[in-house]
Amino acid sequence: MTPRNKISIKDLSVQYSGHYAVNKITFDIPEKSIVAFIGPSGCGKSSLLRSINRMNDTIPGCNVTGKILIDGVDIYHEKVDPVVLRLKVGMVFQKPIPFPKSIYENVAFGPKIHGMYSSKAEIDEIVESSLRKVGLWEDVKDRLKDKGTSLSGGQQQRLCIARTIAIKPDVILMDEPCSALDPIATIKIEELMQELKKHYTIVIVTHSMQQAARVSDNTAFFYMGKLVEYAETKLVFNQPQNKQTQDYITGKVG
Ligand SMILES: Nc1ncnc2c1ncn2[C@@H]1O[C@H](COP(=O)(O)OP(=O)(O)OP(=O)(O)O)[C@@H](O)[C@H]1O
Ligand SMILES: [Mg+2]
Repeated sequence: MTPRNKISIKDLSVQYSGHYAVNKITFDIPEKSIVAFIGPSGCGKSSLLRSINRMNDTIPGCNVTGKILIDGVDIYHEKVDPVVLRLKVGMVFQKPIPFPKSIYENVAFGPKIHGMYSSKAEIDEIVESSLRKVGLWEDVKDRLKDKGTSLSGGQQQRLCIARTIAIKPDVILMDEPCSALDPIATIKIEELMQELKKHYTIVIVTHSMQQAARVSDNTAFFYMGKLVEYAETKLVFNQPQNKQTQDYITGKVG
């Protein structure tokens, strides 16, 4: 069975003060799968990723044209509220930056500000289940009042992922989520991603070819704002159709 497309990107461009960072890109992302964005520094990966939950809206001078459909809805339509969109499309950043609050409050914060629960028991349940999903519950259940920043780097990144899934998104965007982590913490995040993809559609930007090959179902290779190649990950890494892709994955450029 062919999976349903969750995200359709159509003729999308991102410009900063008239300079194209992403140039007329079109492709689809299947539901409940992991897509890796790869390509040399400055090729537009983060710009494209940010356009999927309209984080670019907050950048002065940034202009997005074209369309992104999520579940068939044009997310740039005037009727779409970006705050509501970001509930559906969560984001995890390169550096895990917990709020300067307790572990519990870090996870409870999103559901609280969006009024997503009606009792203390309900919010406790959201906190516990989110921490369980990221494999952190056993480590932190007796220290929920400790500061989020008291955790190790890998634990902090898992806390940030728990914070993201607490608001029950459908899509999780990850911009180099492991670049500040050691190899063991990295593998744990990768295992977590395999678990999460049963329920979520995940887009990950990574500079690690090994990581892209290990975790993703499909890989998109970008070069200077253009989508050069997009296919099943094993094809991109074993039989790249384009010389630029081949040069990049074999380390000749980038
Ligand atoms: N806030 C911004 N203002 C102006 N130009 C920007 C801004 N963010 C990105 N750019 C430019 O857009 C282009 C693409 O940048 P982007 O950050 O999307 O690349 P990237 O592929 O994520 O790179 P990296 O791998 O280094 O993170 C670059 O030329 C960059 O200088
Ligand atoms: Mg980037």
